Amino acid sequence: MSITPLKTWATDPAEEDAMNHEHGPFWRRMIALMVERDLFGKSVLDFGCSQGGLLRLLYHSHSYAEALGVDLAADSVARANALAGPVPARFEVRDNLAGLEGRFDVALSQEVLYLLPDLDRHAREIHACLKPGGVYYAGIGCHTDNPEWPRWRALIEPRSNLPVQSYSLDDFNRAFAGAGFKVYAQQYRIDEFVPLSDDGVMGGVAATLHYYDAVKTLFRCIKQA
Ligand SMILES: C[S@@+](CC[C@H](N)C(=O)[O-])C[C@H]1O[C@@H](n2cnc3c(N)ncnc32)[C@H](O)[C@@H]1O
Repeated sequence: MSITPLKTWATDPAEEDAMNHEHGPFWRRMIALMVERDLFGKSVLDFGCSQGGLLRLLYHSHSYAEALGVDLAADSVARANALAGPVPARFEVRDNLAGLEGRFDVALSQEVLYLLPDLDRHAREIHACLKPGGVYYAGIGCHTDNPEWPRWRALIEPRSNLPVQSYSLDDFNRAFAGAGFKVYAQQYRIDEFVPLSDDGVMGGVAATLHYYDAVKTLFRCIKQA
């Protein structure tokens, strides 16, 4: 199944720039939680890369040999390529990983799983594109174990050019395990000051802190060597 490419995921393109700012704490924490500290000579995939910020940030602390970011939003991918500079990352418009089998040591996705209509297919594709022993880190806060999710979903849906799905953390675990991964998870426990909004979107200060601490979850999925 192939999905029609978009210009941007957000219905308002200005929100794509805002997302870069909002997702900074999650990118930093995902990188800090990665068990693989040395990516020298390694290849990295970012699935749903948008404007490529996660791969640029990763390269500054963990220099990898090469990286590929894929996204089905064409304007975001064009921006990612324009911003890549000396970082050995390239970005492609894609919604599938055909032809990339066995190519990557590490795969990443940050807040993408809830937009995928077929989790099992995604898990199989990521598993196939990793080398034996390769690792997939998937960060996700948009899930049904998030107490704010029903309200968030109603806010996100009209702002998304893609249908929004409702999966539980157990759904992700089942899909990854079903594809053959050994699956681990941990809460983000973000240890930096996090931005607060006063528009109530996040559900107030206590809910915001709870989200950054315990709701946002990082899966670590290992493809057996
Ligand atoms: C909420 S944004 C997160 C973007 C980025 N990962 C970040 O941390 O800022 C989700 C992104 O996933 C992309 N996406 C959703 N479904 C996809 C698919 N099937 N294939 C490729 N990209 C997809 C969207 O176009 C969008 O850019």
